[in-house]
Amino acid sequence: MYDVTSHQSSEDFFQRALAVSPGGVNSPVRAFRAVGGGPVFMESGVGPWLTDVDGNRYVDLVGSWGPMLLGHAHPAVIDAVTAAVAGGTSFGTPSPPEVALAEEIVARTPVDQVRLVSSGTEATMSAIRLARGFTGRDLVVKFSGCYHGHVDALLAEAGSGVVTLGIPGTPGVPAHVTADTIVLPYNDTAAVDAAFAELGDRIACVITEASPGNMGVVPPLPGFNQHLSDTCTRHGALLISDEVMTGFRVTRSGHWGLDGAVEGWRPDLLTFGKVMGGGFPAAAFGGRADVMQHLAPAGPVYQAGTLSGNPIATTAGLATLRAADEAAYARIDAASSHLQRLVASALTDAGVAHRVQAAGSMFSVFWGSADPVVDFAGAQAQEAWRFGPFFHAMLDAGVYLPPSAFECWFVSAAHDEEALSRIEAALPAAAQAAAAAQPA
Ligand SMILES: Cc1ncc(COP(=O)(O)O)c(C=O)c1O
Repeated sequence: MYDVTSHQSSEDFFQRALAVSPGGVNSPVRAFRAVGGGPVFMESGVGPWLTDVDGNRYVDLVGSWGPMLLGHAHPAVIDAVTAAVAGGTSFGTPSPPEVALAEEIVARTPVDQVRLVSSGTEATMSAIRLARGFTGRDLVVKFSGCYHGHVDALLAEAGSGVVTLGIPGTPGVPAHVTADTIVLPYNDTAAVDAAFAELGDRIACVITEASPGNMGVVPPLPGFNQHLSDTCTRHGALLISDEVMTGFRVTRSGHWGLDGAVEGWRPDLLTFGKVMGGGFPAAAFGGRADVMQHLAPAGPVYQAGTLSGNPIATTAGLATLRAADEAAYARIDAASSHLQRLVASALTDAGVAHRVQAAGSMFSVFWGSADPVVDFAGAQAQEAWRFGPFFHAMLDAGVYLPPSAFECWFVSAAHDEEALSRIEAALPAAAQAAAAAQPA
């Protein structure tokens, strides 16, 4: 453990961290650069609450950026993990929980087979390699504002921390790597058609967030994902639906449960992470059996991992998914809808033009206009400078929001009356702070 002999504040930890880690954090958006101030160092979490090293309690609307669907320290997850840890933490062999987790994923989603990995980045990177290996083609289509992890080829015009920190491109990614990436505007079927008309026989895959949540929440327009699926099928390319954020969150079978399952199509490959690890590093990619059979050792496309299918991570993920029943999803949906109404009415009362957009229970606020946001250009046009003062007023009142206007807010099944009341009480002053904000 860290040194507990004398009390150290968040500020103390941040100074120590700055000396030994770049920017004092292990993932950029945690650094509060977009909202000002230093990060809060959290010590513990239970249900919808986080407690920092200074003893302050916050209602958590980040949920570890998505994984904590059930809230923190859910008893079923803690019990399962505690029992599993006592039996050893990693064997480097196949083990029972990874089979059970794979079966659960196959039962809930449109994948025939699945390969477990340790992060969402690994999942998308490996899915793209598999798509290229399967099709024998090189080009990858992605959409601006979508974030698929820090994969070299996918960082072009990415969302999440890349947009939060205003990083235009990324030094360290060779030009020849992104030369095979075609970046198109999101929700633009004409742009998709034009790219395929010109390059269709060279495109290995289209990768898209099932519903983008990394430029704020920008849901697919009706029929957009189906159009991607149809277009890929017609041209012999694969559709990779990235459900790292939406998977097992917006329905029991992810975003596909809201569109593909209803409309009768399925992606060729899907990627998962976050919720399926139950707060541990576990992620996955899966899809059509004939495509997955190209993966080593069944086929020639190589992919591997020392900790892939780790018994503790898969135990946590399995316990999380088993506890995520219809009642849990109903609670999350109800809490999210209630919260969206509270936020909208506080901003309206304070005279702040805004738009709340949702994909299932995931939602975010766009500042400065009530117009629908359908793409990255629209997301970037918002008055993001209103968010910093709003964020800090919420933080001061004990509500922990994602420290960026371009990230979505995550509600858990544990967000009860008490947690929602704390948020409701915090909103009016925060909305006033947003109203009074000035551009930098
Ligand atoms: C849609 C999407 N894909 C991929 C990733 C990368 O996952 P990880 O951070 O586990 O590497 C993320 C992370 O936020 C994500 O939201």
